[in-house]
This record gives sequence, C-alpha cells and structure tokens, in this order.
Amino acid sequence: MSGTKRYSDVTKPLSPGPSSIQNLDLSEVFLPTQNHRSVEKKPGRKRRLWIGLGLVLTATGLSLLTGLLVWNFHLRSNVTVKRLYVGSLGISDRTFVKEYEDSSSQEFRTLADQVSQQLKLIYSKNSVLAKYFRSSSVQMFSEGDDSAGVVAYYQSEFQLPVPQQKHVDEAIGSVEELSRHERLLLRPVEPLRVRSVTSGALDSRLSKSSLSEREPINVQVQTGGEISSPGFPDTPYPANMYQQWRLRAEPGHRIQLNFHTLILEDDCQQDFIKIYDSLAPIEPRALTEQCGYPHESLSFLSSGHVMLLMLVTNEEKNFPGFRAAYSQIPISKGEGCGGRLTADKGSVSSPFYPSNYPPQSWCEWNIEVSKEKFVKVQFETFFVGNESKNCVGDYVMVNEEKLCGRTLKKTVFTVQSNQMTIRFVSDASIVDQGFSATYEAFVPSDPCPGRFQCSNNICINSTLHCDGWNDCGDDSDEVNCNCEASQMKCKNDHCKPKIWQCDGVDDCGDKTDEEKCAGSCADGEFSCRNGRCISENLKCNQHDDCGDGSDESKCAKSLLLRCSDFTFRCSDGRCISKLNPECDGEPDCEDGSDESNCQCGMPPFRSSRIVGGQTAREGEWPWQVSLHFDRSKHTCGASVLNNRWLLTAAHCVQDDRHIRYSQASLWQAFLGLHTQGLTNEWTVTRNIQQIIAHPNYNKVSFDNDLALMKLDSDVSLNQHIWPICLPSSTYDFPAGQEAWITGWGTTQEGGELAKSLQKAQVRIINSTVCRGLMQDQITDGMLCAGVLKGGVDACQGDSGGPLAVTNPSGRVFQAGVVSWGEGCALRNKAGVYTRVTKFCDWIKQQTGV
Ligand code: ARG
Repeated sequence: MSGTKRYSDVTKPLSPGPSSIQNLDLSEVFLPTQNHRSVEKKPGRKRRLWIGLGLVLTATGLSLLTGLLVWNFHLRSNVTVKRLYVGSLGISDRTFVKEYEDSSSQEFRTLADQVSQQLKLIYSKNSVLAKYFRSSSVQMFSEGDDSAGVVAYYQSEFQLPVPQQKHVDEAIGSVEELSRHERLLLRPVEPLRVRSVTSGALDSRLSKSSLSEREPINVQVQTGGEISSPGFPDTPYPANMYQQWRLRAEPGHRIQLNFHTLILEDDCQQDFIKIYDSLAPIEPRALTEQCGYPHESLSFLSSGHVMLLMLVTNEEKNFPGFRAAYSQIPISKGEGCGGRLTADKGSVSSPFYPSNYPPQSWCEWNIEVSKEKFVKVQFETFFVGNESKNCVGDYVMVNEEKLCGRTLKKTVFTVQSNQMTIRFVSDASIVDQGFSATYEAFVPSDPCPGRFQCSNNICINSTLHCDGWNDCGDDSDEVNCNCEASQMKCKNDHCKPKIWQCDGVDDCGDKTDEEKCAGSCADGEFSCRNGRCISENLKCNQHDDCGDGSDESKCAKSLLLRCSDFTFRCSDGRCISKLNPECDGEPDCEDGSDESNCQCGMPPFRSSRIVGGQTAREGEWPWQVSLHFDRSKHTCGASVLNNRWLLTAAHCVQDDRHIRYSQASLWQAFLGLHTQGLTNEWTVTRNIQQIIAHPNYNKVSFDNDLALMKLDSDVSLNQHIWPICLPSSTYDFPAGQEAWITGWGTTQEGGELAKSLQKAQVRIINSTVCRGLMQDQITDGMLCAGVLKGGVDACQGDSGGPLAVTNPSGRVFQAGVVSWGEGCALRNKAGVYTRVTKFCDWIKQQTGV
C-alpha cells in the first residue's frame, strides 16, 4: 500500500503535460535576455538562437522522457495481473458417488457450486484475499482416502496488482487455518464440513501462452500398466506441450510409479516432468521435478490413492521422453517401517528403499540390545531432506540428534546405552531416496574386538591399520604410523607404498609422493613430455621451446609444429601443438579436421553427468556390447565403433582345443542391452559376419590383444546404441586420469556373471609403476588401470569391453580394451588393457572407421 502512494506523490507534479510547459516557459525567459546584443551581430544572434533552440528541444525531450517513465511506473503499480492458485479441499460430510467423475452430471455441478461458495467464504475471512478474489472453478473430485468423504480439486483466480503478489501468496498459504475458523459470517445455504484445504500458486512455467494444454489422461491404476510420453520410443515427444496423467488407485492403496526410461532436455526451465501427491498440480504437494537424464532412483510413491504426473515441453529439442510402470500397493499399518528390534545386529532403511520414500511417512524403530552392551548405527546411504532448511521437512532422528541432507559429516552414531531410537519423518512434499543403515551392539570396554577402531567408530580389519590406505574414511587408520621398509613417509606423516611414488597420482594428499621424480624439473621449471626442463615462463609463448611442442600443448592457441609423437596430425598433413584436440568442441586444425569425425562418445541427447554406484543406468554406456557365444550366454564384451563394426579382444576369439571361438557364425552381438536375458525396445541383436583378430596377437604375452567384428548388417544408431570415440595415435591418457570400465563380467573372482551392466571407476596407472606391479609383463601395446587399493577391477567376462575416458567437453574416448589381470581386484595389482592408441592405424585400415 505504501508503495502505491509513493508513486502517485511523485507523479503529479511531473506528469507529462504540465512539465513540458514549465520547461517551455523557462526557455522563453532565456531568449529575450540574449536579444539585447543580438541586434549588433547577425551571425552571433543566429548562433545563440540555434543554441537556445537546441537547449529548448533537449529540455523538452528530457522532461518528456522523465514524465513517460514516471507515468509508466504509476500505471504499472495499478496494472493488475491474473494469478491462479490450485488447491484441493477435503469434504468429510459427503459421500463419493460415481457421478462425481463426470463433470457434466447434475451431482458434479451441485457439489462444485457448493465448493465454490465455500471457497468464497474462506477467502472472505482474509482482507487481502477478499479484495482480489475473482472466481473459483472445480476441475474434479476424488474419493477421500479412507473411503470416507470427497476431495475437490479447484482453481481460484485472483486479479491483483503486481506488488501484491507476495501478500496474496502468503495469505493463500494460510487458507488451511482460515477454513478451520468455525465462526462463519456468511453461512452458505448448504455448508460443507471442510476437513483440509491445500493450495499454492500454479507453477509459472504453465502459464506460458505458447503451451498447448492437452486433454488430461485418466489412468485407473488397479490392474497396473504403463504410461509413456507421446510418440515414445520411436518419435520425439511433441513441442510446446502440457500433458497431465491423473492416476487413481483404489482407496486404501498407494501408487508406485517406476520410470524405465526418462530422458528429457537438460534444462528444467525448458522440458520437465513433475509428480504430485494429488490429482491437481498443487505446489505444496509436488514430490519431484525431473529433467535431463537423471541418475537417481526413479521410483516414486504417493501417500494416498491419487497421483499426478505432468510433462511440459518447449519449442526446441525433443528428446525420447519417458516410459513408466504404475501399480498400486495396499497401505498396511506397519508397512515394514519402524518397530521393535531386539537382535544384537540388524538393519533399518526408509520405507520402500531404494525407491524414493513416500511423502507423509513416519516410522520409529526402537532398538534394544543385550543389557551390558551399547548400540551403534552406521549409515551406508543417506538422502533425506534439505540441510539448508534446518531439517524442517524430512529428517532422521537418532535418539535426540536430528539428521538431514544428502551427505552426512559422520556416518556412525553411538549411544552409551543398550537402547536407541531411530525415527524417520517425511513431510508432504519433495521426496528423496532415503537411507539405509546397519546397527550393531558392542561391548563398551572393547568396541572393536580384534579389529582397529577408527575415530569415526567404524571397525576395520587390523591389517588395514597403517597400510597406506584410508580405510576408515576419515584417515584415522593412517595417522601416527611407523612406515615400513616398503613404504615412504609423506610430509603429512602418512605412510604410502613406495611403488606409488611418481605415478602421477597424489597419494599422500600433499603431493609429496609426486615430488622429486625422475624427469621432474626444479621449481619454476616446466617438465616437457620428452623429459627436458625449460623455464616455466616459456610456456604458451607461441614458441616450441621443449622441442616436442608440449610447452604449447595446453594453451589457448595451437601452434603449427613439426610432426612428432606428441602432435596431432590434421587431415591436411599439418601438425598442431594442442594436446588431444580431437572432438573437443574447438576447431584447431586449419582444415577443421580435428572436429570432423565426432559422431561418437556422446549419444545425441545427453549430457555426461555420472554419479557413483555400481549398476549402470540404462543407456548410460550406449557403446557397450555383449558378445554371446554359441547362442548360449554372455562371453565377452565389445564396443561399438560405427553402425557395422565392433572392437573386442583377440583372446576372446582364439580357438581352444575343443571350441572354435574364431568362427564368426558362432557369435552373436547384443547392442543396447542392459540386463542379460531381458531385451527391450532398445536391444538389437546381430550375427557376426567376419572376425579380424590382430595378426600379431601373442597367446603367451597377450600382446596386441585386439580384434574387430563385422556385424552381418548395419544397425541404426540411437540414444542406446552409439559409437565410442577412437583416439588418434597421439592422444594422451595421462597417469592418474579417471576412467570407467563397464561389463557383465563376474562381480568377484570366480563368482557369477552380473545380470545388469556394471560400471566402475579406475585410474590410469603409469607404465613404469605398472611394470613393477606386474612382473615386467607390460608391453608398449598395453595400458594399466585400476585401483591399487584393491576392490575395483575388471574380471572374467569383461574382456573385450572398453576402458573409457571422458574428455573435457564430455565426449568419451576408448583408451583400452579389457585384456588381462592377475586375479581380480587384488591390492597392488593392475588391470591390463590393450592400448588403443597403438592400434588406431590398423583399425582404420581394416574398417575405414
Ligand atoms: N581375461 C579376462 C576375460 O576374458 C579379463 C580379465 C581382466 N582381469 C582383470 N583383473 N582386469 O574376461
């Protein structure tokens, strides 16, 4: 209110009409004073006249402008806008009848009228709402959750001045309270007993005029089924569309919606889906919003028997869209959530974990272990609520400690008693994956019998104490250690295996293991790739000071150089200094050839976001192929080079005494596969027409372990089948670089093959270090990668699959082919891969890729 007054106060004296007159008056005073002298000198008089006129015009212009501006402000403050609020109103004294589902029925209209009246009455109790309220309309009804009562879904329209928007939004937030006021001033003829009201402003992205709203799709959930975006999966979803799916289950049930595919544009301002724990898009009931290519759990649950899914798209980029399965689950009292736990060891997790927990959950676990023991709980995963909001919405309570957020500073909680209470609470909106935890009883005097106790209370195997690796997670097992003969002492007192020195990875955490390495240069010097040392100042000076171009290889501008092992050769035969220039999004060669063959390493609709975890997401590795032998089971991996050729390992296609693995007709390739034995619309199967193993493959040393497979017919490339980029021969994969391995190989040495495609992150290991680890069996055609701490590696059945490295622009290059190892995932052992850069000429020659 005060804002409006200020505007009008200023406006009056400066309104456009009078102000210009005022200024004209001023100029008239100005002119005559000049006139006295003007009689004598004609030219001078003329000049002054011109100046005068100029000034008059400027002043007029200026005042007009000011006037217009202020006028505009003045007007703006009075400009009113339409604002829509969406809500639901629970009515307890009406019973749901079938007719309420038909908006043209008499029953629907009668009740809708009563709801509108009731809303008007509720708004009348708040001066702000009463002032700007225009009308309400009821869109639909649903049965109350406990089979009693009716829920009405409505839209209320307000016409309000822009500056009032905030106040009205706030007032709308309080309608729940207003509806509880029993003192009714204007009693409607047939009052409704209002049980609850929830409402919020309509998502502003839905009021775009370019959006065309489609007829909502009503889905009866009882028997289960699937929904998908229009056109899925063959054609892109339509542009500028707003579609609702209204899901209704039987009362007493909740709805579960599982996304099998969800690929939209990356920017949620453009394309998005939103799920509501309601039949209408009521913001305080929004459960999630998703866009792009999400990697989190995509399984959602409602609190009651209704759910709304909506899809909104913009004019550009239309991605494959989504497909989701729906089903209903009876709501039972306990639901496996909470309860009394009396064993000395056990686990707890949020309801429906690893699905997203439903809204409005409340669970309490009362743990009571043997009398003389204490309890500790360790969280393995934790995605609950919002830390920045002080844990007001969703949270976990361990005794009196409230926890929320997407990471926990500490993961182990202990209590000095044999009892512990864990409570999980979720509010009405925005859900997440929840938590999983294990609890354990321990003897207070000896919390980790026979094991080492970390500062964070985790117990680890004693042999892991002072072994150079951070096994506790908080480094407490690696401080105050006496280094053994095989270890080096870092400046920060950590002990690290000597073999880790100078491997390109900062193992100490303070880089001491990477100082004073052979080939490393003094302070202020740059170490060239060819081993020379030059002054740091000579870097990026557009002059090849190293002699191999490496001092000019990571600079904004590329230099034309004499070709060497460290330069990229453009198609025109010229060589440039930039390191790994191919497909980095910038043309570096004069002929543009470094960017010319880049339909690889990044499927058409995808950003390269990757999160941890083990099972890959469907479509995350579209170049991964499963090779089946003799129509039976998965035998080796391979990667897609183009629509006809695959790359795999030569050792996969070597005959043994009884089996003819080299016979092309006995192999089958599965492309776009995720789970073995489960083919879907993305999966394409091809027979193999031809196998070309590298002619110099050595069965004993595994040298040149590489083979090509030609499919019997072309495949069409798409989001789920896409080539990986082949690096040029000079592409550099430095030691320490992160890389991903993928495959259906065994998840343990001697174990079973994985059903779903697995992924793991490893690091490239310096070849000199690797020779030390692998008894000198490493040739120039091999590349080592792994996690020397152990536990992460390729294994039997992964052979032939790719070792993939993402370049800075998000494109994935194949650095290696899974070849061999000693056992799997052992400490201080590396996985060995065929070094692809060594063979790109051969691959090109054979396939033309
Ligand atoms: N040779 C194995 C196969 O045929 C792959 C072994 C990889 N081993 C390793 N530890 N990285 O599947």
